[in-house]
Formats: sequence, structure tokens, C-alpha cells
Amino acid sequence: MRFWYECNDCHETYNTDTIMYRCPKCQKTESSDSEFSKGNLIVRFEKDDLKRLSAMQDLCAQDFLPYDIPDIACYPVGPTPLVYPKRLGHYYGLNSLSFKLDSALLSGSFKDRASQLVAAQAIAHNEHVITLASTGNAGAAMSCAGAAYGLDVVLFVPEKAPVNKLMQSILYGATVVPVRGTYDDAFALSIAYTDKFGGINRNTAYNPMTIEGKKTVSIELFLQLGKALPDIIYVPVGDGCIFAGVYKGFYDLREAGLIDKIPHLVCVQSDSSHAISQAWRTRKFESVKATTQADSINVSLPANGRMAVRYIDESNGWAIEVSDSELFDAQRELAKESGIFVEPAAACAWAGARKDAPDLRRRFKSNCTVCVLLTGIGFKDMAVFDKTVRMPAPIDNSIEAMTNRFS
Ligand SMILES: Cc1ncc(COP(=O)(O)O)c(C=O)c1O
Repeated sequence: MRFWYECNDCHETYNTDTIMYRCPKCQKTESSDSEFSKGNLIVRFEKDDLKRLSAMQDLCAQDFLPYDIPDIACYPVGPTPLVYPKRLGHYYGLNSLSFKLDSALLSGSFKDRASQLVAAQAIAHNEHVITLASTGNAGAAMSCAGAAYGLDVVLFVPEKAPVNKLMQSILYGATVVPVRGTYDDAFALSIAYTDKFGGINRNTAYNPMTIEGKKTVSIELFLQLGKALPDIIYVPVGDGCIFAGVYKGFYDLREAGLIDKIPHLVCVQSDSSHAISQAWRTRKFESVKATTQADSINVSLPANGRMAVRYIDESNGWAIEVSDSELFDAQRELAKESGIFVEPAAACAWAGARKDAPDLRRRFKSNCTVCVLLTGIGFKDMAVFDKTVRMPAPIDNSIEAMTNRFS
């Protein structure tokens, strides 16, 4: 589809389909290291092109992307399962509750959606190297897509990044480069690397395709529901890119004339990593000291904070915070009561939805449809259970020993 870029902040448009990262004007005026950055770009389409899609039979979410996805079957991204957790819905009085299971994607997280599009961008521009900085799922997802398409992935990580998810990237064949210092140091080096050696940079929020790719979840959901929408969607938030992607999918569906309203989007954050939620409440775009144990959403200065706050407003949504103990409890509850095992960051969304349940029942009576986005699989980080889950001691192979165990 024909596309161009629009700056989220100054609204300048850039009429090009070449690779662009951030608004050159806004980038120049940035002053403080503790304020959310400006200048993130949004991909825009000709309205006629979108309208044409609405008449298509057998529509698929990838039809809405700016680049064609090559060999889609070699790196299939979605549709992910929609699960109706009957017992949990009944317990919390949410009669129409569903979970969108993006933990079922190839690399185990939502980030495959962005990586699929960045891989397509690289192939369209004849680039063979994709560089990024990441501490976890984005790196694993890009490495996975690189392995599928035969692209080289160079992944810069802060030296103290959690080892589990990095292992995955190494197994996929990425060049993993630990950098002395913080994520910011790894981020800066990844950009310097792309500047010097070429290729594409896939840093979250820096490359606008990372947000654009994530929008497929909303279009997929709309199609799965027989061209209908849930009333409310709960999204776990760190940098605010997934949240923006979810909004963008509905925005494009509306531009295409396929829907006339956007669901309420709820930004769920840990109360110990709550920069976006705080900015939405106070209208001050300032960093926080993030300390949540849910590593994927531990973000002090969100890379897409301004756009996320804007989209909370534009969807008539809201933000809710949960404590780390609520979030870990939600993770255990999901496993035990619905058979779904997700990582703590993903469980954050469920923690927010169940916390909101009494309010939802009051505001919407029993008639609201709620979808919770579960963004990452739990198996990636079993070490978090070392202190909380004990393996029972073995017993002798006898029914008496078994009887004694439970007496
Ligand atoms: C599993 C999972 N859930 C949620 C998030 C939060 O996404 P964002 O940082 O785009 O807000 C991430 C980000 O890494 C993630 O990996």
C-alpha cells in the first residue's frame, strides 16, 4: 500500500517510502533526558487504498501493512488463539471475557508481529542486516525472523540483561553483543552501528515499523470475531509500543470504513514502572524510577510514551496500575484456573482487568465484552519460580507411601 509518515508531535508529514526513523525536526529540539522524547513517526496510508481493502474477500491482517510480507508461511505470524476462560469469567462476573494468546507466536511473544514487518522492510529495501538493542523478547523475535528469512541480526544487550531470553537469540543464530553499561548504552551503540555499517535498525519505537507491525493483532481480532469488536481491551505496557500498535490497527480499520468506533483501550502498568500511567493522569511526561520484577515492562523513560498517552485519550480508555504481588498472583491464577502460562509482563494485563472487574460490572452491567492481551509465554523465565514453587519430595513406589503422603 502507498504510505507516508506523520510525526506524532508536530504532525509534519514526510512523503517517502524510504527508511525513516524519527521526525528530524522534533529530534533536533529535544532537551531533557528525563522527559518523554518527541518525534515518533506514524505510518499513514492513502484512504482510497484502505477503502479498497474493505471490499476484499478473505481479508487478512497482513493486507493492511505497508510492505508485502514475503513467504508468509515461512514465518507465519497469527492468527493467535482466542481463548474464552469460562471459569475465570464466571468468577469475576465478566460474562464475555476472552484472552488473545500472543504467547503462542513462534518466538513466544507479541514481538513477532513487529519483527515480521521489519524483516519485510529489510527484504523490500535489499538490506541483509538488522540491528537492534533489546533485553529480551524483541531481540528473540527479531532473531527468530532473521533465522526464518536468512537475514543477519546483530543484537546489542546491556551486560546485565537476563540470560534466559538472550540464550534464545543465540540459538536462533543472532550475533549477540553484550555492552558495558545500561540499555541506553546498548541502544546508542546499535544506532551508531547502523549509521556506520548500514542495514536496518529495529529499535523499539525508533523504527516506526515496530509499532505498525503490532497493529495486526487488532485486525486479526476483528476478523476472528466475525467483523465485530470487543468493548474493552487490556494491554500490558512498558514503552507503550504494543499499546500504540493495538490502537493503530483499529484506527486503520476505521479509516477503511470497516468499523465506526474504537474499543476502550486500557493501559495496564506495574505501579513500580508507571511512567505512562502517571503521564496520563498528570499530563507531565516525566521519567520514573522503574523497579518492577516483570522485566519486559520495567521502563523508566518510555520510548513511545507520548503516543501511548494520546491513544489512551483517543480510545476513551484509561490507565490502571497493579502491584508486583498482584501481577505475580495473576500469573499463577492464569496458570491454575485457565491453563494459560504467561510471563509476568503479560500477566500484568490480566491483573489489571480483574482489578477493574467490579467497576466494569457497575459501569457496563453484564453486557460488556472484555479481551485481555496476553503477550508473552511463561516458559522463558522459569527461574522466577525458584523461590516460590517447591518440587515435592519423591516417594517409594508403593500405594502405602502414596496413602501416607496424603494422610
Ligand atoms: C511480553 C511483553 N509484554 C508487554 C510488553 C510491553 O510492551 P511495550 O514496551 O511496547 O509497552 C513487552 C515489551 O517488551 C513484552 O515483552
